[in-house]
Amino acid sequence: METLTDPTALEQMPRRIGILTSGGDCPGLNAVIRGAVLKGTEVYGQEFVGFLDGWRGMIEGDCITLDRARVRGLAKEGGTILGTSRIGPYRTEAGQPENILRTLAEQGVDAVIAIGGDGTMRAASLLRNDGIPIVGVPKTIDNDLDGTDYSFGFDTAVSIATEAIDRLRTTGNAHKRCMVLEVMGRHAGWIALHAGTAGGAHAILIPEQTESLDQVCEWVISVRDRGRSPMVVVAEGFTLPDMDGAFSDKGLDGFGRARLGGIGEMLAPLIEEHTGIESRATVLGHIQRGGVPTAFDRVLATRLGLEVVELVARRQWGRMVALRGTDIISVPFDELAETKQVPVGRYHELRAIFG
Ligand code: F6P
Repeated sequence: METLTDPTALEQMPRRIGILTSGGDCPGLNAVIRGAVLKGTEVYGQEFVGFLDGWRGMIEGDCITLDRARVRGLAKEGGTILGTSRIGPYRTEAGQPENILRTLAEQGVDAVIAIGGDGTMRAASLLRNDGIPIVGVPKTIDNDLDGTDYSFGFDTAVSIATEAIDRLRTTGNAHKRCMVLEVMGRHAGWIALHAGTAGGAHAILIPEQTESLDQVCEWVISVRDRGRSPMVVVAEGFTLPDMDGAFSDKGLDGFGRARLGGIGEMLAPLIEEHTGIESRATVLGHIQRGGVPTAFDRVLATRLGLEVVELVARRQWGRMVALRGTDIISVPFDELAETKQVPVGRYHELRAIFG
């Protein structure tokens, strides 16, 4: 969007903006914060505060000042300088809309930028309907948020997972073992699909497509029979046909969802038992979310940060900035469907060469 020049719109533009990061962290969050603060302060003369620990900071008015000095060098920093949490805004007494509006008024904050995933965007949509001037920035390493072609953090996670595959393949080859790598991906197997493709995995197992143990073992045996060491990539949300839901033995997270992880460790012994090929599992876990963002993610996150300030300047509440092709556009919260999953066709184009 062009920088705003209309005098009336500039007059009515929010002056003091609160930013928060909510949900699981993601490489690139700090780059968004930096992009937004630099654009808002330098171009529009706005002030920024950062709410700490997601919605908690907003409902309790717990914030820090964000100025040019505070965001210096942040594009390459992993994590989030604001902290994050999986606490919903409506969970507590202070989280009722009238209290939130009062707290924002006390802070002199006249607009909120929420950076988060599907849960955060759903909460932001409810808050918008309750009269809170709010806009969103999509974030998830899983790349499963509808409305945006890619979310920042995904490219970093795929790069880390690809490197893990490359490393596992050399040790797997040395021992003639079947190596199973479990990556994140609760409802969508984008990380598994992209990293598995880049790393030349012999089977990729994703939440969207069930595969039988017999089929997985058939692929593994065919790899072994031509003298190679099988490499299986499995997303944490994958299920075998006889499972009721994704593997979980770690209780619930702050949003009340099952904490996933462990399908790889369940699968490796089953593969070993059924094929006689020694197998090992590696759970990549939060390594995928930590550390510096890739250049792609820094660029995307910075552009989203710059553009979300334009939504605020135009008072276009209830919208989320998004990547469409190579353009940054915006979409209404209301138009975000459930989850952006891997289409069957995308899976099957690769499945044809498994084994
Ligand atoms: O939602 C993103 C994600 O990385 C999922 O893939 C994963 O299930 C979840 O976060 C893990 O989150 P936590 O940090 O709560 O363990």
